Amino acid sequence: MTTTVARVDSAGGGLWADLTYNDGSVSSRKKATPEMSSTTDPVNPEPLIIAIDGPSGAGKSTVARLLASRLGLPYIDTGAMYRAVGLLAARGGIEPPLDDEDAAAVSGLAENHRIELSGTGRDVRVLLDGEDVSEAIRTPECALMASAVSALPAVRRALVAIQRRIGLQSGGIMEGRDIGSVVFPDAALKVYLTANPAERARRRQADLHAKGIEATVDEVRRQQQQRDLQDSTRSDSPLHVARGSVVVDTSESTLDEVVARLLAELDERMEIRLDTVGGNTVRSRNHGGLARRESAPIEEESS
Ligand code: DC
Repeated sequence: MTTTVARVDSAGGGLWADLTYNDGSVSSRKKATPEMSSTTDPVNPEPLIIAIDGPSGAGKSTVARLLASRLGLPYIDTGAMYRAVGLLAARGGIEPPLDDEDAAAVSGLAENHRIELSGTGRDVRVLLDGEDVSEAIRTPECALMASAVSALPAVRRALVAIQRRIGLQSGGIMEGRDIGSVVFPDAALKVYLTANPAERARRRQADLHAKGIEATVDEVRRQQQQRDLQDSTRSDSPLHVARGSVVVDTSESTLDEVVARLLAELDERMEIRLDTVGGNTVRSRNHGGLARRESAPIEEESS
């Protein structure tokens, strides 16, 4: 079985796909075509896009990765792209808050550098001009910088264009702040995940700890408040619940409950059934309504 990961070379132009085999080897890169999407769909050839928005610590990444694995679709972390631009700005000596001069300097960064997402669902790597910055972009400082640069319309325009190209080519579970409102307002399913501030801070602190980054829950909570305020009050594409979104509060739910709820919502919206055949998810017309959940549970990808 192969896993296909589409990525856009934003500097050199063009869309590429990596074929990753079960043993981890990656075949020569090919120009992606619709048939290379990892989801086979004899009924509806349009790529399946699920938008997952919400504040940090609401569980978006975990839920999105699991859905991607269950549905055999790429996981597309748009926050990582903003973080990569934030890292570029920080390396250029810029610090938040940005003044007009900083904003002018940062505005061209996304267009003039190559930002790629590469790898399989569980180990997506973020490449900046070919350098693996997956760890470097995860610091709290980079998160604040990402939030600051993401308020700049020029940065958003460049990254949204990349995100749309990736989504249209391969479909995917796309996570961010404006996916359901701006990037893919017609996504098959739009989800807004949230959780109470204490729980969000607790989760984020545990994530950081697992990455070897130490911070107290109070510090994390203060940074989250600052980012929430910036992300939801900026004039271009602020974080909000997009029309038609399913709002799920994950504070008291298990991961399995959230994923089961979202699969049920998808099932109802698409009126299709989703079966796993030979490791691939196959979609077909679902005349039986909810039949899929009783008769053909989706199995997690084994690779
Ligand atoms: O999801 P994240 O925490 O890695 O995102 C980092 C920042 O990027 C976040 O504070 C706001 C910004 N962002 C955005 O504005 N739009 C997106 N689609 C994704 C992230």
